[in-house]
Amino acid sequence: MRIPDSKIDEVRSASDIVDVISSHVRLKKRGKNFVGLCPFHQEKTPSFNVSPEKQMYYCFGCGNGGNVITFITQLEKVSFIEAVRTLAERAGIVLPSESSVDVAEATESEKLYEICRKAGLYFYENLTTTVEGKLALEYFHHRGFTDETIRKFGLGYAMNSWDELMKRMERENISIDMLDKAGLVVKRDDGSGYYDRFRGRAMFPIFSPSGRTIAFGARKMREDDPLGKYINSPETPIHNKSRNLYGLFHAKEAIREKEYAILVEGYADLISVFQSGIQNIVASSGTALTEEQIQLVSRYAKNTTLVYDADSAGSKAALRGVDLIIEQGLEVKVAELPAGEDPDSFVKKNGRDEFQKLLDEAVSFLDFKARHFQADGLLSTPEGQVRAVRSIVETIAKMKDELKRTFYIKSVSEKYGIYESVLYRELDRILGHERSQSQFAQRKETALALDETRAKQVYVPPAKELPSAERDLLKLMLEHGNEMVGFIFSHIERERFTHTQAQRLVEMILGYAESGRAWDANTLIGEVDDALPTGQAGDFRRFVADLVFSKYEISKGWSVLEEADPATLAERCILIIRKQQIVELLEENQRAMREASARGEPVREYLERHQLLMSEKKEVEIGGLGGKNASASV
Ligand code: UTP
Ligand code: MN
Repeated sequence: MRIPDSKIDEVRSASDIVDVISSHVRLKKRGKNFVGLCPFHQEKTPSFNVSPEKQMYYCFGCGNGGNVITFITQLEKVSFIEAVRTLAERAGIVLPSESSVDVAEATESEKLYEICRKAGLYFYENLTTTVEGKLALEYFHHRGFTDETIRKFGLGYAMNSWDELMKRMERENISIDMLDKAGLVVKRDDGSGYYDRFRGRAMFPIFSPSGRTIAFGARKMREDDPLGKYINSPETPIHNKSRNLYGLFHAKEAIREKEYAILVEGYADLISVFQSGIQNIVASSGTALTEEQIQLVSRYAKNTTLVYDADSAGSKAALRGVDLIIEQGLEVKVAELPAGEDPDSFVKKNGRDEFQKLLDEAVSFLDFKARHFQADGLLSTPEGQVRAVRSIVETIAKMKDELKRTFYIKSVSEKYGIYESVLYRELDRILGHERSQSQFAQRKETALALDETRAKQVYVPPAKELPSAERDLLKLMLEHGNEMVGFIFSHIERERFTHTQAQRLVEMILGYAESGRAWDANTLIGEVDDALPTGQAGDFRRFVADLVFSKYEISKGWSVLEEADPATLAERCILIIRKQQIVELLEENQRAMREASARGEPVREYLERHQLLMSEKKEVEIGGLGGKNASASV
């Protein structure tokens, strides 16, 4: 099934690229563009550029680039059509034949997304259409979740049955194999078939950062349920537990706005706090906090506040979380709940304002650790104090920023009345120690750095292999449109573009220009994305994005060029290409002349041509675009 081009255009223009990418990458304004950490390769310094003006993105690190639609296809690994659908949904544009993705052409990921979406919908409907489900709805209400919250988070109920979901999906022609891949069924031990994974449980769908249902958390509802309080979907091709955070889809705007993320442990914690009106919150749910999750948060904000359960497991998790967050270079504070509470119970009991107060009173990791040791009675003995200080310095050692370390060493020194020099000695000992002991971590670090250089080495921007005059002309056409195209091709032929991608681009541009249709870099990319096989389209996209985004490092200093008048620049490039052409013709002529003279034939004709070409070359060198000439007419 095809979506009409006009609809695709509508979706594209309704989806501002900065808006869309901001939902996935933390962007900072730099000049005309925005920059951020590339979501397509690992990097520590931002080389990912987004241009609001061009509505395009480009990464100087890995060469990935394109428009808003290609961004989604790359990020979510879905097809062009599927990306258009995602953006349409986001922009509230109704596409024809909304029913469902054409199963035959959908990729496996798309099918899995679709299956999870269907399953989620089915669980949600159970709440009102079945007797059992109504009990679950009551349970949610009893927990204080409003109908709006239930809808917003897509909560539902999985029937207490071995095959309700399977049967239901069968009716929709979904294969058992795909259900298995989606993590919704479990294979019987004896190999005799499958059964529903979630039975008789309150369902919490897990959304991807862009809002697709990718997995489920399922809470026990009956005493006689022998399994754990929560069971969760396994890892699937669309669900990587350590790389997602529960609630991020709903929280990301608020996190960016508030400039910090609240981290809690449980599904219910997140939902209750969110419902109370504090929405910059995510939950690690079902896994211990991971490096990747922290990196995910860091796309939206650099500050975090941990609010973990006030029990020993919670405080252990918080201690670990603090170190991990610091290691990733983010700021972390810890808010402490009264004994026995979790964020869910606290906010329900005390309300939003009290919870906010708790957040406002969150302490630095330093005070948090100190408090923790105090509670353990450690601070009352000198040995205990040594251990406490050592542990704090261990955390400081995890900071990569030397300035930060200095700052915290000073704080500890003041707080505990310990000489800074003593603390530094301890710090050095840990760092030295760590250096030899955690070679693994170091190796990983080096490996990462290597990956980064490798990513840079492997990808040679194709535009670099371009003759720089061709490159400059292409850039000028992309920037100045049809008038420039007309000017350039009234002076040189399209065949003068020698690079394959350049030729493709020139053909496309001329196609538009000659038919008088409007175009820009973005349209060209769109056309190719839709028409070429993925690999080729990708290469072309990179080529165009590179042209649009790169400065003229090689040719002649973009800053100079940027100020000059575009027609003058074009003229200069055309002259270079012409001169190159004349030089080639001269060489050819000389070869022909030598051959003719070897054969004893007259060479006057060649000499005349030589003269003509030489004077033309001179003309070009002086700089001027004369009318038609010998070289052009050959
Ligand atoms: P908790 O045990 O603190 O549960 O686990 P909770 O969030 O307070 O749950 P309610 O309020 O009783 O419903 C915190 C989180 O750890 C994961 C879940 O994500 C849960 O929300 N968890 C817990 C599991 O994955 N499996 C379990 O058996 C228990
Ligand atoms: Mn709870």
